[in-house]
Amino acid sequence: MYARNINTYILSIMKIEENYSLEKHNTFHVQVAAKHFMEYDSEEELSRILRDEYFMECQKLHIGAGSNLLFLDDYNGIILHSLIGGAEQLKSDDTNVYLQVGAGMAWDACVAYAVSNNWGGIENLSNIPGETGAAAVQNIGAYGVEIKDVIASVTAYEVKTGNKKIFTATECKYGYRDSIFKNELLDQYIITHVTLKLTKQPVLNLSYGNLSEVMCAEKEQNIQTVRDVVIKIRAEKLPNTDELGNAGSFFTNPIISKPHYEAIQKDYPAIPGYEVADNKIKVPAAWLIEAIGFKGKSFDTVGVYDKQALVIVNLGDASGTEIAMLAESIRTKVLQQFEIEVNPEVRYVG
Ligand code: EPU
Repeated sequence: MYARNINTYILSIMKIEENYSLEKHNTFHVQVAAKHFMEYDSEEELSRILRDEYFMECQKLHIGAGSNLLFLDDYNGIILHSLIGGAEQLKSDDTNVYLQVGAGMAWDACVAYAVSNNWGGIENLSNIPGETGAAAVQNIGAYGVEIKDVIASVTAYEVKTGNKKIFTATECKYGYRDSIFKNELLDQYIITHVTLKLTKQPVLNLSYGNLSEVMCAEKEQNIQTVRDVVIKIRAEKLPNTDELGNAGSFFTNPIISKPHYEAIQKDYPAIPGYEVADNKIKVPAAWLIEAIGFKGKSFDTVGVYDKQALVIVNLGDASGTEIAMLAESIRTKVLQQFEIEVNPEVRYVG
């Protein structure tokens, strides 16, 4: 229907797939289909699409690699995906390089490129599935670093008007796994490029967990070895999405008040917690899920990963609803046992 209505310009330049399987476009590998699927590879193309009157009326969703999405059903609209790749050095001085990265570039390819040039700042974010545009929406983080720490600006197009806007890092309103693009501007802008400010004299950040301990065993202390070590640690704890469908951490780590934390500590002295602000403690959701007895448990087609309780896995042909139901039982149990709400980091669609 949509393809028949869409204007001839778009039809002439774009390949629009109909009833397109999204299995390869979501790392849970849930078998759903999109009514239409469209890819573009330049800002001009995107801008033309956004100004198309038929496109404007259609229900639509822009995706990255689908590593943070849970499709509950077939998508009855148009799915857009960026093929804008490449990493271009915009400017450079004695200390920094500003690297403009296409939103469709695999995030880890971007990290590998930076590390191979000895540009520091993102090596701790090695091997995170997903694409660069989505990484900037999500404010991905690992091993003591968040992408916001190195974001200089984000280039995006307003869906409603097709106009371009450059957001400074401050305008992106970054927080823990959070940004303006997940809140007041949800689905209102499409990111085409992310500009990273990387350093030419890398300083290693080994503050997280046992990273410094593991690094001690390495002969060389540089960003390449940090990358190697992070890749190794992640491979030990997190399932490969190609082998076992998953979306990394399913929940964010909840932040609770200090009195609440201390009350729980009376019954559970081992509960870990990290002070994040005055009177606020971040508690690992993985610990809570392990404490309710769900770590390593499987329920027919879905399960909780046995090496990291924060990861829900598709054990076979799980549907999005089955995955969501397991997540819901975890939420309920954690709430009953600890009076803590754990909220999905994963975005539900449908
Ligand atoms: N823990 C458990 N049981 C487990 C796993 C962990 O009790 O099965 C407890 C331990 O006390 C451990 C603590 O949780 O010390 C923290 O575990 P981990 O270092 O694995 O980190 P996390 O808080 O579970 C976060 C991110 C990960 C990121 C790691 C490393 C979130 C939601 N997740 O996980 O990000 O890789 O830190 O920095 O903040 C992702 O977002 O997809 C992701 C994998």
